[in-house]
Amino acid sequence: MDSVGPLGLQQGDGAPGCPQEALPCPSNSPELVQECLRQFKVTGAQLRQIQASLLGSMEQALSGQANPAPTVRMLPTYVGSVPHGTEQGDFVVLELGAIGASLRVLWVTLMGTKGHRMEPQSREFVIPQEVMVGPGQQLFDFAARCLSEFLDAFPVGNQGLQLGFSFSFPCHQTGLDKSTLISWTKGFRCSGVEGQDVVQLLRDAIQRQGAYSIDVVAVVNDAVGTMMGCEPGAGPCEVGLVVDTGTNACYMEEARHVAVLDEDRGRVCISVEWGSFSDDGALGPVLTTFDHALDHESLNPGAQRFEKMIGGLYLGELVRLVLAHLAQRGVLFGGCTSPALLSRGGILPEHVAEMEDPSAGAARVHTILQDLGLRPRASDTELVRHVCAAVCTRAAQLCAAALAAVLSRLQRSREQETLQIAVATGGRVFERHPRFLSILQETVMLLAPRCDVSFIPSVDGGGRGVAMVTAVAARLAAHRRLLEETLAPFRLTREQLAAVQAQMREAMARGLRGEASSLRMLPTYVRATPDGSERGDFLALDLGGTNFRVLLVRVATGGVQISSQIYSIPECVAQGSGQQLFDHIVDCIVDFQQKQGLSGQSLPLGFTFSFPCRQLGLDQATELNVVAIVNDTVGTMMSCGYEDPRCEVGLIVGTGTNACYMEELRNVASVAGDSGHMCINMEWGAFGDDGSLGMLSTNFDASVDQASINPGKQRFEKMISGMYLGEIVRHVLLHLTSLGVLFRGQPTQRLQTRDIFKTKFLSEIESDSLALRQVRAILEALGLPLTSDDALMVLEVCQAVSQRAAQLCGAGVAAVVEKIRENRGLEELTVSVGVDGTLYKMHPHFSSLVAATVQELAPRCAVTFLQSEDGSGKGAALVTAVACRLAQMTHV
Ligand code: G6P
Ligand code: BGC
Repeated sequence: MDSVGPLGLQQGDGAPGCPQEALPCPSNSPELVQECLRQFKVTGAQLRQIQASLLGSMEQALSGQANPAPTVRMLPTYVGSVPHGTEQGDFVVLELGAIGASLRVLWVTLMGTKGHRMEPQSREFVIPQEVMVGPGQQLFDFAARCLSEFLDAFPVGNQGLQLGFSFSFPCHQTGLDKSTLISWTKGFRCSGVEGQDVVQLLRDAIQRQGAYSIDVVAVVNDAVGTMMGCEPGAGPCEVGLVVDTGTNACYMEEARHVAVLDEDRGRVCISVEWGSFSDDGALGPVLTTFDHALDHESLNPGAQRFEKMIGGLYLGELVRLVLAHLAQRGVLFGGCTSPALLSRGGILPEHVAEMEDPSAGAARVHTILQDLGLRPRASDTELVRHVCAAVCTRAAQLCAAALAAVLSRLQRSREQETLQIAVATGGRVFERHPRFLSILQETVMLLAPRCDVSFIPSVDGGGRGVAMVTAVAARLAAHRRLLEETLAPFRLTREQLAAVQAQMREAMARGLRGEASSLRMLPTYVRATPDGSERGDFLALDLGGTNFRVLLVRVATGGVQISSQIYSIPECVAQGSGQQLFDHIVDCIVDFQQKQGLSGQSLPLGFTFSFPCRQLGLDQATELNVVAIVNDTVGTMMSCGYEDPRCEVGLIVGTGTNACYMEELRNVASVAGDSGHMCINMEWGAFGDDGSLGMLSTNFDASVDQASINPGKQRFEKMISGMYLGEIVRHVLLHLTSLGVLFRGQPTQRLQTRDIFKTKFLSEIESDSLALRQVRAILEALGLPLTSDDALMVLEVCQAVSQRAAQLCGAGVAAVVEKIRENRGLEELTVSVGVDGTLYKMHPHFSSLVAATVQELAPRCAVTFLQSEDGSGKGAALVTAVACRLAQMTHV
């Protein structure tokens, strides 16, 4: 008894041929035909529902939702950048799974910017059926044999080859060269491969073959290869669409939207794997009895339902099932059938393509049907064409609905109302079915009217694209190596930081003893921090940081009230004569007093003068009713000390950098007295001016120092503070550009401009909340044409430079607090550090990196960092207040 399929079809060994006597065309054959063809009609509403449901499933998968499991996988491919156009070299590509029961090996030569294009050379190898369903090792050994057979024709010698592996099955990728097969599709079902890393399986097989040294650099899905194979002039394509034996698409998604990636910058190519899309609500109504029959007979029933309605491997089968159905009801071929018509795979995709092609005349269709063992009547050929057209039209429309879902996702992902995008298309269904693309285009215009889509056929089935990915992977790997080499000197080890701490301790001791040292350790004559009993109104000046401020500070029972005004210091004054500077300062004071109604009043004044000053006394540094001159570090310490008496260290990390702390007077050789404390202005900016930081200094530091107004001076400051970090980054970027790692190796005029890269850019670029596109915006505003990779590398350069700065600063603070702890012979020290300065305050990670380094290098000190709110002007006023209080006590 013959086996009867779900469609009640005779199959397998059902007796093909004709009924005893030819069946008259049943009267209801037009209805039977219409009923068949109607099943393949998909309405606009159904297509929109498929579009919406697929989009929903895509976003579920992107967000990492597992329950209910989304029906599309949305697999990250680790392809993060589109070709530069600079990729060059010879690459070998092995394609497995894209074109059904055969694999293809290609030799692709990329010419980089030299423009003209070399045609890839390729060879196709048919995969024996038993290999497609046999042990996995057999398949990979077969592939390795084909590879070396192909390479035998090339003058390879023993040069190392880079290979891109196009493996067109759903895979979990964890890197460009690491990919685990989820499940076979499209007629493959080799054992021992699902759940394995297919790159390793190929590497092992190549190893076993042992003919050539081939480095498998990247594994790519054919949709990705197609996208990357987009003609340079036409693209860049950001969507890849394949309809060959199977179907799939990929597109460039914002990395921050891909939950599994934990990456918030840049874009990553996502392989949608829409072949597995199956939402009964959306697909149910368009699934025909023929689809169910095909699925039931397939190697993977229930899986890849969407693919089975679109993929070239299945179109022939669908047409066969319809024709067999109609034949056995006497509607077609006089009720005659044939072995080809009744057996799976009897009608090949190329048959359908020809019969569906309007340019192929009825005669051609007749011949094809005859070759299939049928005896078509004249009316049959037209009907068969309608069936082919119905099956292919639906496939193109469903493909369009899926593509429209991807376009809607791109609009959302990029928050764009309208989208202009290039889609690379690949696969024999596009090549063979001329109407497929036009139906797809029309339907996409209906479903995604706000998307301006250009379709770019990929020229050689994506082989070139795979070579591109391999070249990009090789380029990125080479660039990554160069970037790491360039940034390595900025990555300080714990040992190096501990050495800086120790050297600073020695320099402090030498400075305090008045011996030669790069640390001047200047006594400030501030002997005490405020005790809260200070009272009065004080004028304060704050000069030396970004702004010059005049302040009126009222110290009263309820606390400190401040009113202040910022005045600019014109460049010509800052670089002019001292006389000019102080005249300008007095003008500002007079202006301030008038505005504050203080004219004619003589208030004690504290002056924060943030430059190295050798003080002979609190006020012996200049004229006016100046009571105190303090360094901004001292002002900051005092200002924070007023709130927290444990604050005995002042730290500035702004335009410049420096620190002060309360030292034991007995240790200060230049000031008489053995008891009590003296605040020491370390002027640590000059640390290393004796060359002791030479081992850490890079060529970039040397370039910044040579170009500065004080070469050889302030070496520690030039590695840490705001005036210099931007310049260090600029020099590193120039170096990386010269290596071709950045900006496609094209140095821009702007980047060669001194101080064009502000230190505040580091703070902006490194802020966690900034998406890469904002990083790009900052850099593009600088006239730097860059790619996402470039922006990611600029970010890494900024991170390396600021991290080193923060760690060096931390090593300095660790030296200071350890000094205080040892001064007091304490096991543990609890101390606070008053901090000010734009870099410390504005940079997103600087303060935490400083604190982490101090913890690491001074574990016996519990250090609290207090950000000074009112700047050191208040501190200067408090020093003045303390001085006035002490003066009154001596006069009482
Ligand atoms: C605050 C202080 C100034 C100090 C400055 C340093 O504004 O009040 O005395 O000089 O910080 O930081 P900056 O980033 O302005 O150089
Ligand atoms: C100055 C210090 C000052 C520091 C922070 C350095 O350039 O030499 O006196 O404390 O900058 O403003």
